[in-house]
Amino acid sequence: MKIGILTGGGDCPGLNAVIRAVVRKGIFHYRDEFVGFMEGWRGLIEDKTMALDLDAVGGILPRGGTILRTSRTNPSKRPDGVQRCLATLAKHKIDALVAIGGDDTLSVAQKLNEAGAKVIGVPKTIDNDLGGTDYTFGFDTACNIVCEAIDRVHTTAEAHNRVMVVEVMGRDAGWIALYSGIAGGADVILIPERPFDVDKVAESIRHRHERGRYFSIIVVAEGAKFSDGAGTPSVQDMGKDEFGHAKLGGVANILAREIEKRTGYETRAVVLGHIQRGGSPSAFDRVLATRYGLGAIDMAHRGEFGCMAALRADKIISIPLKEAISRNRTVDDEMINIADGLFEEIGVKEAAGK
Ligand code: F6P
Repeated sequence: MKIGILTGGGDCPGLNAVIRAVVRKGIFHYRDEFVGFMEGWRGLIEDKTMALDLDAVGGILPRGGTILRTSRTNPSKRPDGVQRCLATLAKHKIDALVAIGGDDTLSVAQKLNEAGAKVIGVPKTIDNDLGGTDYTFGFDTACNIVCEAIDRVHTTAEAHNRVMVVEVMGRDAGWIALYSGIAGGADVILIPERPFDVDKVAESIRHRHERGRYFSIIVVAEGAKFSDGAGTPSVQDMGKDEFGHAKLGGVANILAREIEKRTGYETRAVVLGHIQRGGSPSAFDRVLATRYGLGAIDMAHRGEFGCMAALRADKIISIPLKEAISRNRTVDDEMINIADGLFEEIGVKEAAGK
């Protein structure tokens, strides 16, 4: 078969591991040929390609980013975008396209599939918010990075008797905040799924300090909302991307100010930003990404188009793309209840507004 590969959306540690696994198994086991489409869907619209052979994927396993580069290009927002993608696939005589991306990239994959292209999806995002799969690769690495940052923030918070508010990514899902907050021993974890009451947060910090602790760590997801804030997250005033997403961010600075005002404790905000997406994937993500890649190439040869490789109960299976993109997987009540067992005061659930 002649197989195209692209990576779309925000980058994520493990993308190169997927590309490597697809190409290696495709060449070693199926004698496939590959074409890399550059910069996400832009590569299909503008016919930007690179050769993908064993040499091209040599040494890329531990590298962050993606050798195919990426973009948030949405073909539906470009003149004749979808038609141009189909024409490029036809020009290169592509039998199957492996699209590695999150919900935006995979919604385009589904659209192209409906238009006749043979597409297979691989779930990627540090946010872990894609439906149909237990984990996306990149999430574990991001949590490790955040956990290390929280450990470092701990020692400086302790040295200065400070409250530190650490803002993490995740868009509308609190997975990174919850997992890294638990792993880093945060005192309060604020997630988008539970709008929070800033008075309650300040109150719990005060109680903690009155009990003899003299510093605190709050982990807040970028999409977390103040309960009196009309249900909207803080956004940076930088417009929207081609999929209509506003750029989230800023909640930690606002929260730090409000905590300091209410408690009198010196408070600082730390925004981790894109550091969470950079650098080498963890061992777990290298293995998971490799398993997804191996699953995807097998799916291509079984003709399972319009489907995505998914992880369920530690098995790689094939599910309809439609199922994966039909809903965002946010943190569920069960997980929130588990996390709340750790906290004497407000934890996660009780931070919610009245
Ligand atoms: O979707 C992954 C993600 O890292 C989100 O957590 C974050 O809100 C967004 O991408 C940032 O996007 P960009 O790289 O375009 O600034």
